[in-house]
Amino acid sequence: MCGIVGYIGKREAYPVLVKGLKRLEYRGYDSAGVAMINPLGNLNIYKAKGKVSDLESSAGDKDVSGHIGIAHTRWATHGEPCQVNAHPHYSASGNLALIHNGIIENYATLKEKLKAEGYVFKSSTDTEVLVQLIEYVQQSENLDLLTAVEVALRSVIGAYAIALLDKRQPNQIIAARKSSPLVVGIGEGEFFLASDASPIVEYTNRVVYLEDEEIAIIRSDEEMKIVNLHNVEINPQVKKIDMELGQLEKGGYPHFMLKEIFEQPSSLNDCMRGRVNPDVNNVILSAVNDHRERLLGARRFIIVACGTSWHAGLIGKHLIESFCRIPVEVEYASEFRYRNPVIDEQDVVIAISQSGETADTLAAIELAKKRGAFIYGICNAVGSSIPRTTHTGSYIHVGPEIGVASTKAFTGQVTVLTMLALSLGKARGTIQQEEYLNLIGELSQIPEKMETVLQMNDHISQLSRIFTYAHNFLYLGRGYNYPVALEGALKLKEISYIHAEGYPAAEMKHGPIALIDTEMPVVVLATRNAMYEKILSNIQEIKARKGKVIALVTEGDKEIANLADEVIELPKTVECLEPLITTIPLQLLAYHIAVCKGKDVDQPRNLAKSVTVE
Ligand code: G6P
Repeated sequence: MCGIVGYIGKREAYPVLVKGLKRLEYRGYDSAGVAMINPLGNLNIYKAKGKVSDLESSAGDKDVSGHIGIAHTRWATHGEPCQVNAHPHYSASGNLALIHNGIIENYATLKEKLKAEGYVFKSSTDTEVLVQLIEYVQQSENLDLLTAVEVALRSVIGAYAIALLDKRQPNQIIAARKSSPLVVGIGEGEFFLASDASPIVEYTNRVVYLEDEEIAIIRSDEEMKIVNLHNVEINPQVKKIDMELGQLEKGGYPHFMLKEIFEQPSSLNDCMRGRVNPDVNNVILSAVNDHRERLLGARRFIIVACGTSWHAGLIGKHLIESFCRIPVEVEYASEFRYRNPVIDEQDVVIAISQSGETADTLAAIELAKKRGAFIYGICNAVGSSIPRTTHTGSYIHVGPEIGVASTKAFTGQVTVLTMLALSLGKARGTIQQEEYLNLIGELSQIPEKMETVLQMNDHISQLSRIFTYAHNFLYLGRGYNYPVALEGALKLKEISYIHAEGYPAAEMKHGPIALIDTEMPVVVLATRNAMYEKILSNIQEIKARKGKVIALVTEGDKEIANLADEVIELPKTVECLEPLITTIPLQLLAYHIAVCKGKDVDQPRNLAKSVTVE
């Protein structure tokens, strides 16, 4: 969702900016633009609706010279996606150019005030309001630019990450953030600016993550200066990022999503490395060691998350309740933050987020913190906002996830939740030693079993062609596989735009069964576990109404094979680890159906990877 890139230094800025925007494409966007100050001191802005490649085509024959510039990919919030609403936006005088991620909540009031002062607006964006406001403050109060930015930002309610150019100061970028991420990369006499580290890694591994209400003044060949909104200087904390360029590229796969699906055996090995130790029969999470008493003393866990991470949370509830005998609630962060939840210092909140930047999850954390709860983060993006605001946590360590539809992050989250449940259960004495040891053994075998599932890729690809006609899909599962059904349905709708619903299988007869006819594909998670007989009956009910059943079964299952229209056989594992296996064919099914339908798998319409606005 919205991407920011900036550059100042000795290089030509335009290629750095465009490459950076491409690295951020995965976040989801609908238009793009750049602003550069050329050697003659002109401030040029080029914008285009559509992809970064559309921007390149339209800017290609224009003057793109200059060693300083800012660039943006926009995901529409205020005003439709079009060239006029794309960023950067000029101020009225044409001296300033601004790009912005986030939402200025009081933009309408500010706009009215500025209109009363005679300002005219070209776009429908809140961003144009902000750049006009900065200029208005500067001119009316006769301030230098930095002070004008401070004053303007103090009057703003909402979220922002901004970068600002002033053609009268061609060696300076001003950047600021509140509730929307912004990273400054420090090179030799040059600086890079971006919404996350991915556009920066190929140039430098030294970065500063701006904190809320901090403003960076960036000039080439000078030390970066950071101040707060009241002009108090703050010491930049330089961090080292540990990301390789190869991790950000497709490595021979046609799409990032397929690459990431196939990475799961190795990403889970990375996730478990040093944590699941079959040789010494233990599971260690450093956060559990460091905060043992606080975690063991929890009266209750509350999991907050959005989207796919919320589905992982549902599996986490089963795991923690089974092995630790502590009650767990799972909440959509967006609902939790606007209720008046009963929560206090005896509660532990587990915040799950791939990006570590989801606005609703961050707000839920802030609310829980204010009420005294202890916050445990489960994130992927190292150094992102959520890990920086939680009391402790565990990274899932599955590497950068670029495809908008989350895949390896989901299995990484489920794995961390499994490790958490096992280590807490062990410490509380609520899990039998025999079961604990068995689960450690089973967990270590999951990556190998995932490899076996991935070998079915061709079979699933062929099977998917049969179902591209469908307008609706139903996904059914029970117990640990119910959240997998939800996740399978989400994957399909996200990338193929086919309507799909996940349901607990037994609930089918309370509504969805009315939808079943000869056209309706029903994906049933029917592995051999405690629920097997029940699921078998559900399949019979679907077949009695001539629905098309695609069944995920345990290898060797003949009974369901005789009933179902299509069968995907999966290696056996223990019931609580099944989601790590059953998720993969559903990811592949969604992927291949979307490819067959010619959809843009990695950047599905209207979706964003990192939802930094509510
Ligand atoms: C967006 C993404 C989803 C993701 C959700 C939560 O909707 O497209 O893939 O599950 O946000 O994101 P988070 O980064 O907090 O896990």
